[in-house]
Amino acid sequence: MCGIIGITSNKPVTSAIINSLRKLEYRGYDSAGVATLSNGFINEIKSEGRVDNLEKNLLNKKIEGTIGIGHVRWATHGIPNTVNAHPHSSETVSVVHNGIIENSTTLKKYLIKKGHKFKSQTDTEVIVHLITELLKENDLKNSILKMLKQLHGSFALGIIFKDQPDLIVGARRGSPLAVGYGPNENYLGSDSYALKSMTNKISYLNDGEFCIVKKNEVNFFDETGNKINKKVLELSSNEQDYEKGDFKHFMAKEIEEQPITLKNCIKEYIDSINNEISIHNFPWKNKEISSVVLIGCGTAYHSCMMAKYWFEELTTLDVSIDIASEFRYRNNRFKKDSLYIFVSQSGETADTYAALDLCNKNNMKTASIVNVIESSIARDSNFVLPIHCGPEIGVASTKAFLGQMLVLYLLILKLGIIRGDLKKVNYVEKIKDLKKLPKFVEDTLLTENKIQSVSSTFIKAKGSMFLGRGFSYPIALEGALKLKELLYVHAEGYPAGEMKHGPLALIEDGMPVVVLAPRDNYYKKTISNMQEVIARGAKVLLITNKSNDDVVSENIWQKIEVENTNEDLLPFLLTVPLQKLAYYSALKKGYDIDKPRNLAKSVTVE
Ligand code: F6R
Repeated sequence: MCGIIGITSNKPVTSAIINSLRKLEYRGYDSAGVATLSNGFINEIKSEGRVDNLEKNLLNKKIEGTIGIGHVRWATHGIPNTVNAHPHSSETVSVVHNGIIENSTTLKKYLIKKGHKFKSQTDTEVIVHLITELLKENDLKNSILKMLKQLHGSFALGIIFKDQPDLIVGARRGSPLAVGYGPNENYLGSDSYALKSMTNKISYLNDGEFCIVKKNEVNFFDETGNKINKKVLELSSNEQDYEKGDFKHFMAKEIEEQPITLKNCIKEYIDSINNEISIHNFPWKNKEISSVVLIGCGTAYHSCMMAKYWFEELTTLDVSIDIASEFRYRNNRFKKDSLYIFVSQSGETADTYAALDLCNKNNMKTASIVNVIESSIARDSNFVLPIHCGPEIGVASTKAFLGQMLVLYLLILKLGIIRGDLKKVNYVEKIKDLKKLPKFVEDTLLTENKIQSVSSTFIKAKGSMFLGRGFSYPIALEGALKLKELLYVHAEGYPAGEMKHGPLALIEDGMPVVVLAPRDNYYKKTISNMQEVIARGAKVLLITNKSNDDVVSENIWQKIEVENTNEDLLPFLLTVPLQKLAYYSALKKGYDIDKPRNLAKSVTVE
């Protein structure tokens, strides 16, 4: 959330900053800005809205310099307008900031008393004046140390100084920050994605650390100001993964890629010849784990919920799930024999990270399931299981959801066989089915035309409901989340059996309702619940799997049949039409699919 870039070089940096801001735009798109140093002055230019607007402004007012910082914002304090856009500057310093300064009101009062004048409604401006004040009596390093001590909350910072023509300070607490190394230039960025077009040599700051970046030298310090050494990581990347190619949107590309990403992930974890799941270096013995706690946010939380059903079906482990923002503040009973699993595409979600940190501080066993393997969550977990999806750029998570479910399912099967909860013959059978999953997903992607036509009804409706039972319930929640995220219309996921306990009152004539009823153990029950909503006027889109038996129900508005496979894997297939429903609904409305309003990828504030 929010994106930071900083470059110090021996050549002009403005256009490179703008290019990086375009890459970072998926992290925030309320406003954008850039500040550079030239001839001992800080020049800053900012715009409301997208980087395109900033670029247009730059045509009228050119700013150059061989050092500069840039920012794309996702508003926390203060409305998204030009004044509140970053960078924020005094005559002495210019600052870009991700995160929230929790004691900004107290600091602001103190600084106003000292004569500082504030222009914006942001918490960030406090940092500008605080460092300006500290620099009056301290050298640069001590000013940074004193400033960091006084700031409460979470942040990543990039700061340039009027009197320092080749120096950017970066600091991290809670929000991610990376340093990149180039030829005669170095960079600061809120993630490696921003830096990848310039370098593949990267170091990450840990919490509490800060750095001083010059064009030919970078120094890192811990929170007490002691110099520390950092590993330089070489990132390999396929540039195509970061481009839309022939697709109109990243989301469309990411939905279509799912057969390939699943195949890649299966290849990483399944020994195909022996039909065996390989999870190397799992650090704990069987008897050390008797329960599992799964934690995530949003879509990642839905994959945790899916895993709970599979865990209960395929193992004898006790399992509970939690939303990270709830878990981190509850009075948890930490158990030594529990395994805490954190699920996150970005690996940077603030609440999920905080929940992990809490578990680490209580010496719990922690594992993470992430897409970005260099992320904070991956680095700070005892054990990491990557989902091998490649970069997910569209704000609405799609391929990562299937990837998370896949890796969770693999882990569950593996624990099931190791613990003796699963019979070998069933285990092998399930692995064989898994190998066919990418092809089934590919075939399910062909439900395209039907989805395009039903989406016309969803875009006209006041709201909709998504119903499912058992394995289909988490998928109903995910389908509703996707639709509200992209179509900006209320959509509610509900356990089909709960409708009569209240939500049935919402059903009115013509309301579109998605019913997920694959032919599993819950099928007959869900069909009964479907009839109850049809009887009250709902237009039901039934999503089930192919079968020789016809569905015994009248007045179904529309039906989509996904491929037929073993019950465990049907949730993967049911998800695909729901992703497409959200996509085509938003497309018909002309909404910005990859950057839905008010949202951003990688939620690094709580
Ligand atoms: C929904 C969506 C979000 C994320 C959530 C967690 O489409 O993308 O709900 O799933 O913000 O993000 P990660 O997985 O990065 O922790």
